[in-house]
This record gives sequence, C-alpha cells and structure tokens, in this order.
Amino acid sequence: MRLQLNQLAKSFDGKVVLDGITADFDEARAIVFIGPSGGGKSTLLRIIAGLETPDSGTIALDGESVEFSNEETLRAHRRRLGVVFQSFNLFPHLTALENITLPLEKVHGHTPGEARDIASETLKRFQLGEHAGKKPAELSGGQKQRVAIARAIAVKPRVLLFDEPTSSLDPEMTAEVLEVIEELKREGRDFVLVTHEMGFARRVGDVVALLANGRIVETGTAEQVFTAPNSAQCRDFLARVLRY
Ligand SMILES: Nc1ncnc2c1ncn2[C@@H]1O[C@H](COP(=O)(O)OP(=O)(O)O)[C@@H](O)[C@H]1O
Ligand SMILES: [Mg+2]
Repeated sequence: MRLQLNQLAKSFDGKVVLDGITADFDEARAIVFIGPSGGGKSTLLRIIAGLETPDSGTIALDGESVEFSNEETLRAHRRRLGVVFQSFNLFPHLTALENITLPLEKVHGHTPGEARDIASETLKRFQLGEHAGKKPAELSGGQKQRVAIARAIAVKPRVLLFDEPTSSLDPEMTAEVLEVIEELKREGRDFVLVTHEMGFARRVGDVVALLANGRIVETGTAEQVFTAPNSAQCRDFLARVLRY
C-alpha cells in the first residue's frame, strides 16, 4: 500500500493531539506505529480509518486522497478498510456469525444468504466454526478478538487497521491473536498496526514509526528503529519499554 499523511493536525478542547503529521509510506505491506500512551496513535488511526476528521491536513491511500468533507467519498474510503480495535467492539446482543453478517449486509450490500456464507467460511478459517452461534459474552478474549479480525477480513478490505489488538488480552490469548496477524502478513495482506508488543512490531513491521506528543519522531525499517534509532526520544522510549 501507499499511505500518505500530509500535515495532519488535530486538537481536542484546545489540546494539540496531532501536531502536523507528515509521512509517505510507499510499498509498505505492514506499517507499525509505536509510542508512549497519549501520544496520538489511536487518533491518527481513527483519522486514517475515516472515523475522525482532522482539523487540517490530508491523507491518501494508494494515491486516492480522502475528502473528509464529502460523506460519500468518506464512506467509499471506509469500505476499503477493515478495522480491529483494542476493545473488540462486537455487538453484545448478536452472535459471532451475526456480528460478521451485519456489515456485509448493511455496508457492503450482500444478500443475507451471501453474508451468511461468507461469515461461516471466514469463521471456519479462523477455527471459530463451532463458536458461530455464541454471543461475545460466551467467548474468551482471544476468541472475541479473532471474531473481530474475521469480521474485518470478511469484507475483503484493501487494508486492515489494528489499534492495539492485544492490549486487553492475557499472554496466551495475545499469542493466539498475534499468530493470526502474522499469518495475514504471510498471506500478503497490508495493514497498519498500533501495538505495545515491541517484539512483534520488530518482527512484522516493514516500516516502524514512533509517534510521541503528536509527532512522528522516528521512522525507518524495523531493524533501523530497534537497533540504531536516530533520535534520543526514540532511544529513551525503547530503553523504557524494553527494560523488563
Ligand atoms: N475524543 C476525544 N476527546 C477528547 N480528547 C481526546 C479524544 N480522543 C483522544 N483524546 C486525547 O488525545 C490524546 C491522545 O490520545 P490517543 O490518540 O488515544 O493516544 P494513544 O493512542 O497514543 O494513547 C490523549 O490525551 C487523549 O486524552
Ligand atoms: Mg491508543
């Protein structure tokens, strides 16, 4: 994918959260954002997802710029994406299967029959076939997140966006979800990932960018960023998070 971010700025209640983000990620299959809590990662991801409007600046995906003021092009942009959040965001009153059929029908225009077929196939693919009829409360955290990933994949997105997909999971479930993401990478799917799992960031990231205080402080290959960071801020961040 090519993802261009041009002078993105965003403030909430007078507090600057994104302070002019500019980057051109070209031919990157996996773009990984790391950085301290509160640095603006989720806000940036939500803007990339077309779920939040920047105060100024533009983004373009594969050369197509996103018009935030035009609801129709914004919807078209969102349809190209599959988004996975930290907190799963599954509908509690719907089964795993229904959580997947809903966007297929309502957003992507599939008939109920088609949506059902796609959803069951996708659940099987993620070893969730036997859980199709369960509601989120009857699933483990890892299973819930795999359903959320299945839902994101089912719509055949151009790009997947993950915002800390494992941060509410215990280590075993974290491993289960990271394995799925790594498998998607092997399949050649493009994604943008925000994560606190530094080992994983290094392993799957084609490009790693450190976002702190609303700015991209460092960007490079995973190898570069983790072994020879240019900025003191990045060195400090890595020293802090890799200490234990
Ligand atoms: N909808 C919102 N309203 C007000 N403040 C927000 C909102 N979203 C994020 N913020 C603030 O923006 C800052 C950056 O948040 P966030 O993008 O979630 O950072 P990160 O994901 O890196 O932890 C935080 O101080 C947060 O409180
Ligand atoms: Mg966040």
